[in-house]
Amino acid sequence: MTQADNPPMTLADARKLDAADPLAASREQFFLPQSGGKPEIYFVGNSLGLMPKITSQYVQHELEQWRTLGVRGHFEGEFPWMPYHEYLSAAMASVVGAKPCEVVMMNGLTVNLHLMMATFYRPEKHRTKILIERHAFPSDSYAAASRLEVSGLNPDEHLIVLEPDEGELFSTAHVCETIRQHADELAMVVLPGVQYYTGQVLAIKEIAAAARSRGIVVGFDLAHAAGNVPLALHQWDVDFAVWCTYKYLNSGPGAVAGCFVHERHATNTDLKRLAGWWGQDKATRFEMQNTFRPIATAEGWQLSNPPILAMAPVRASLELFNAAGGIGPLREKSVKLTGAFADLLNHRLSGQVNIITPSVVSERGCQLSIEIVAGDGRDIHRQLELSGIRTDWREPNVIRAAPVPLYNSFEDVWQFVDQLAGMLGN
Ligand SMILES: Cc1ncc(COP(=O)(O)O)c(C=O)c1O
Repeated sequence: MTQADNPPMTLADARKLDAADPLAASREQFFLPQSGGKPEIYFVGNSLGLMPKITSQYVQHELEQWRTLGVRGHFEGEFPWMPYHEYLSAAMASVVGAKPCEVVMMNGLTVNLHLMMATFYRPEKHRTKILIERHAFPSDSYAAASRLEVSGLNPDEHLIVLEPDEGELFSTAHVCETIRQHADELAMVVLPGVQYYTGQVLAIKEIAAAARSRGIVVGFDLAHAAGNVPLALHQWDVDFAVWCTYKYLNSGPGAVAGCFVHERHATNTDLKRLAGWWGQDKATRFEMQNTFRPIATAEGWQLSNPPILAMAPVRASLELFNAAGGIGPLREKSVKLTGAFADLLNHRLSGQVNIITPSVVSERGCQLSIEIVAGDGRDIHRQLELSGIRTDWREPNVIRAAPVPLYNSFEDVWQFVDQLAGMLGN
């Protein structure tokens, strides 16, 4: 069916879809920020997810443990702190399609990227280069360039920049072909799972296969993918991945990040790494010996003992995520929600906006990156803010808007487009 055959969603349609939505009630589990006495239309879950109502209770619980038990909190109570990170591994593993032994929650995303590169970037002979993409998130570019510098290599010569080949987007064939062309000089590929500016979902499975079949290590930044789109990191044979939990995983500003190390590496205790005592074999950690023997799981890359008060919100949010049925039902709703959003924008604002996110469903997640063609995008973004519609602006010319299945509704989508249409003079 073509787009013209589909009449645009009306407000009544949106309300019907919300009434029939099995996930509608999960909105009630979150605090929606207010603007002008009304709940905001919050489309920035791609930047900072909303606060679950249960989060304070989870943090309060740990504060209470500390208040009442002091140091005994490490070993006593319902969730002793000593293995606290372990309570998160299985649930997080199911979000990213991994085995629990392949996942550890620790640090921030960029720190984890550095830890992974310290292990997996092994320049040898002519294979010294790292492939990143032209518009890689700056932190990833800094991390890759500085990894080269600390290895005594010049980033101008050793960083290969993958250019988009379809406007701002990448075709899978082009990504794989670039890897093939540079195979003899590449030591590592680091790419996003979902590109932050365009919202494009990259073909992780195919890209990982293209790199690995040529003996090149492949890692992904899943900041915009984890909790947004289904992932199968173990099966896709990715070497490593890192992600944050403050976006689609609703764990709060600067929340503790995730790290995936494929089982074939996680169990290899001979792999060189930057080491700390929390990565030390649990049975001998408190013998306080100076010989480092890493845990034979992703936990073997931990450095410090975990920040329990910052881990508690991750635990809270994963419980909500699971209670909603996990990524399967969330993705099912997300496809409908973002599909309705794209259709409505195209119908009502044809020629006035250009959605740069792919229209192919498998190549996009929640987010649409909207270029305002007929008007000043920055001013429109400001007007949206003033009307209580929260989106974010990314230079040079894009409003990013992400309806999130856990707490956004079809009516939010309709209201957004209706208000934007008014601002564009329709
Ligand atoms: C794609 C991407 N990579 C990396 C980062 C940096 O994350 P962190 O500050 O948690 O290291 C962000 C932050 O928003 C991001 O969007």
